[in-house]
Amino acid sequence: MDISGLRRPYKDRKDAFLEENILEKDPIKLFHEWFEEAKNNPSIIEPNAACLATATKDGIPSARFLLCKGYGVDGFYFYTHYTSRKGQELEENPNVAIAFYWDILNRSVRIEGTAKKLPMSYATDYFKSRPYRSQIGALSSDQSKPIESRTKLTEIAEKLSKKYKEGEVPKPELWGGYAVTPRSIEFWQGQTDRIHDRLRFRFLEKDEVVDNVLTHEGEGGWIYERLQP
Ligand SMILES: Cc1cc2nc3c(=O)[nH]c(=O)nc-3n(C[C@H](O)[C@H](O)[C@H](O)COP(=O)(O)O)c2cc1C
Repeated sequence: MDISGLRRPYKDRKDAFLEENILEKDPIKLFHEWFEEAKNNPSIIEPNAACLATATKDGIPSARFLLCKGYGVDGFYFYTHYTSRKGQELEENPNVAIAFYWDILNRSVRIEGTAKKLPMSYATDYFKSRPYRSQIGALSSDQSKPIESRTKLTEIAEKLSKKYKEGEVPKPELWGGYAVTPRSIEFWQGQTDRIHDRLRFRFLEKDEVVDNVLTHEGEGGWIYERLQP
């Protein structure tokens, strides 16, 4: 199946040019601006959906979508089963990459960093706030392990919903959160003329200095640079 002709013109986003002089110089604040715009766009159903890439200690990668459940100076949060494939890969290799994509805005954000487990109290609080069916779903799944049939899964869920009423579902012991501490955050804005904007925030390498030509001083210890599209 040849799908090479599949092409949609990007909406003109000149208003969204990433210009060095008008740019928010702190990538977390800039992410917040972009995220708010995505969140307030009714065409975007899950603005917090993102693709998380992990890798084994030998560098074999795997990627899956998840929902980002918070962000701030201490990183980007998500929740999952610690015993899942991603959880096992994170155990042996904390290096991750996350990509958000908001197609209607022609925007993507790429984050690279390291993941570490959040304190269990975060997961306990968040789990309590989840809808009943999501709680039962999490409790009934030994995530990423094979199972013989869907019927088997629904039987487990059914049994658990008989056992636990709303408000009583315990958090699975090994279900919890991670915070990804970013070491680089790239903002990509697609443009009609195909001269797309790419601005990457990162930290200075050892002995590197900001030259105000290719690299520029950001806020919060970050520097930034424009990448070719
Ligand atoms: C939009 C979307 C959101 C998802 N959100 C989560 C999530 O927040 N946590 C999670 O563990 N899995 C989530 N999943 C399921 C994962 O993509 C994946 O199937 C699961 O985490 C197992 O991945 P693993 O076997 O690589 O560990 C989501 C899937 C989609 C498509």
